[in-house]
Amino acid sequence: MTTTIQIHDQTFEILIQKENIAKRTRLIGIQLNLDYEKRCPIFIGVLNGCFLFMADLLKEVTIPCEVAFVKVSSYQGTNSSGKIKETLGLPENLHNRDIIVVEDIVDTGFTLSYLLQAIQEQKPASVKVCSLLLKPEALKTPIEALEYVGFEIANEFVVGYGLDYDGLGRNLTDIYSVKTVLPALAEM
Ligand code: IMP
Repeated sequence: MTTTIQIHDQTFEILIQKENIAKRTRLIGIQLNLDYEKRCPIFIGVLNGCFLFMADLLKEVTIPCEVAFVKVSSYQGTNSSGKIKETLGLPENLHNRDIIVVEDIVDTGFTLSYLLQAIQEQKPASVKVCSLLLKPEALKTPIEALEYVGFEIANEFVVGYGLDYDGLGRNLTDIYSVKTVLPALAEM
């Protein structure tokens, strides 16, 4: 196993090994199977970062369920977070359904709170969030629906297992954290 990697101008060191990701994912899956027994939830993965976690998590889910993906794009604008967001591909049949939003990471929470608002407009029966990673110190808006969290990590930039640094690193099987913080990263 490689403990240190280089992506572009940054050095990253191992933070969470794939065996631990797999163990934690299995436990979350078991919990979901218990919590959603006989309810046929819709899992909605938030692209791009969720793709590996979503796939591995759904292999642990044995109850009947539906699967969908959504993308939240953001561009510079004038609202409070400095960005205007747009939801792409949100299913239109969420009324009275149990929804589980699957995220790779919750950082400030802005993306998620925007998405949750869009989901609530369809009046689902329930909405919960399952995120592999959470940076509690970075959270800027409370997310009450955040029920299932794989790992709480420090407020540092991470790559691997779906997460990228400037487009690279999503295919790494372990999760790495940045060793040195350069201005380019501080702005992300
Ligand atoms: P939030 O809106 O600040 O919670 O940001 C959520 C999105 O930002 C995630 O879905 C990721 O795509 C991205 N993100 C946040 N922190 C990191 C990180 O440490 N590494 C890679 N992407 C990140």
